[in-house]
Amino acid sequence: MENEIRKKRIFSGIQPSGELTLGSYMGAIKSWVDLQDEYDCIYCIVDMHAITVRQNPAELRRRSVAQLAQYIACGLDPQKNIMFIQSHVPQHAELAWILGCYTQFGELSRMTQFKQKSQQHADNITAGLFTYPVLMAADILLYQADLVPVGADQKQHVELTRDIAQRFNGVYSDTFTLPEPFIPKMGARVMSLGNPANKMSKSDPDGCVYLMDKPEDIRRKFKRAVTDSETAVKFDKENKPGVSNLLTIYCAATGKTMEEAEADFAGQGYGVFKPAVADAVVELLRPIREESERLIADKAYLEGIYREGAQHAQYLANKTLAKVQRKIGFAAR
Ligand code: TYM
Repeated sequence: MENEIRKKRIFSGIQPSGELTLGSYMGAIKSWVDLQDEYDCIYCIVDMHAITVRQNPAELRRRSVAQLAQYIACGLDPQKNIMFIQSHVPQHAELAWILGCYTQFGELSRMTQFKQKSQQHADNITAGLFTYPVLMAADILLYQADLVPVGADQKQHVELTRDIAQRFNGVYSDTFTLPEPFIPKMGARVMSLGNPANKMSKSDPDGCVYLMDKPEDIRRKFKRAVTDSETAVKFDKENKPGVSNLLTIYCAATGKTMEEAEADFAGQGYGVFKPAVADAVVELLRPIREESERLIADKAYLEGIYREGAQHAQYLANKTLAKVQRKIGFAAR
């Protein structure tokens, strides 16, 4: 079409540092699926981010490809979206180096994820862990992304990306699109089932539901979920964090509003509520697990998608990178 208007662009990614969780589904992947028709989307498996903490090489390799199968099984259409593995597109590392020279030590020191991870991995606080947000900024800015759908914990990194882009644009004239975070209304911060004060994370197997968990595992985890000593199923984040988290999960899994969810359980105790949340999650994840298992067995199909994705991504990334290199004064090749 002649006057075709370019759709706005999305970029987002997930680290293959562990199995995908219900948190990453509700905070990120669900939005990706919802937005794929309206936007021009690029979804990445960010293996270079994953090595900021020590990984088992065989597991990293396996999970990187399995994660692509899971993206597709969640509903991302490989015909509509560019999907690739970050280390296959070297422009990410090249732009990250350049952007690192436009990022302040103080800014990186203030990042919450760095503070948390350097506590968790106190014996291995690497330069990579510290400069992680610069690589994330490169991911986003390389593709001139308008929108970055993420869970609430990544908002600070997207804001830093904007600051870096704005600074660069200020010095060299408009180069980068300023991205906005897109954070879902329901499920932006799914908490651990075992300790609702903490975010649900891959490294906490009991408090965490994995997309590939079998129904019996999911039911067991919800049965053990921490609630409180009252009986009413009411949303009250301050005083009833466990129940509120379960209600949020129920809403995100079923598409119901909080009022509808509370009405479903009016007058019922936790003995009815907890298994009902488990059932909703079992039904949400069953088709995703089954389709993932089928796709993981088809290595050639997955290879085709991530190779083509990387080629397409490189083409787009090179346009931005070449512009940046010229503006900062690197000699023409
Ligand atoms: P990562 O791999 O830790 O998490 C992937 C995505 O899932 C979201 N998420 C959650 N949302 C709600 N509740 C939870 N419990 C939960 N756990 C995880 C995260 O917010 C994230 O959206 N730095 C990123 C990866 C990244 C990236 C990027 C994202 C690298 N480059 C460029 C966007 C754009 C990260 O560590 O996500």
